[in-house]
Amino acid sequence: MDKLTAQEIRTCLNPGQIGWQVRVFDKVTSTNDIAGLYTDDPGLYGTAFLAEYQTAGRGRQGRTWTCPPGKGLLCSVLLNLKIPPNLLSTVAAVAAAEAIGPLAMVKWPNDVVISDKKVAGILVEGKASANCGTFVIGIGINCNQQSHQITPDLRPTTTSIQLATGKAVDRNLLAKRMLLSLQHWLDVASTDPQQVLSAWTSRSGQLGRRLDIRYKGLRYSGTCIGLDAQQGLVLHLDSGLVRFFESGHSHILAAL
Ligand code: BTN
Repeated sequence: MDKLTAQEIRTCLNPGQIGWQVRVFDKVTSTNDIAGLYTDDPGLYGTAFLAEYQTAGRGRQGRTWTCPPGKGLLCSVLLNLKIPPNLLSTVAAVAAAEAIGPLAMVKWPNDVVISDKKVAGILVEGKASANCGTFVIGIGINCNQQSHQITPDLRPTTTSIQLATGKAVDRNLLAKRMLLSLQHWLDVASTDPQQVLSAWTSRSGQLGRRLDIRYKGLRYSGTCIGLDAQQGLVLHLDSGLVRFFESGHSHILAAL
């Protein structure tokens, strides 16, 4: 098994830049838990926390995130910045897709897919005040799982990079690419959020498609006409109205 190492993943030595410090663990509950211990420690902002295995990995909306030891990328980055949380998860999805490669597409709100099967997910946690926030961006990428190493009920909708491309991934290289890409897109987001939305759009298979969304217990159907930095996905509903869907409470039921 290839092992993750901080030396191979570290991106730079500039304090505060993403990946300037890297901590690798064999086993944790969740890398988001570990990063979350340091939200009040500015000296650790920009640090990436990675683990070979999570005993209680979590996904959005109370779901779990499971991955056999050494087969995936389980990474959380601690950040303090001025970016709306909705845009932050879009930035992370674009960065993860870019690191994975040209086959990877983004699927709102927080997924990265290859041929419509989920290969990565993003979980942003944190506290935001009026103009600033401390966040943990958790990114899980399925790298070298064989199909029997994917939970049976998820197999029809989930893949790994190795399954999708036929090639094993160097996880250290992937981690480094992802952290560099995350820094790049965060820089872009702070000056020109529209560029992030354009990058998302060019990697999204959802624009122009009909979507069924469950939002706070109600079901909506319409055509996806864009993504808004503050307010999330924009649907032209069948009723004729245009409505925004904030990512935290939305779940895509079907894409036609
Ligand atoms: C989702 O698709 O629901 C989000 C999945 C996020 C998984 C990653 S793995 C690293 C970090 N630690 C966690 O417990 N979750 C995120």
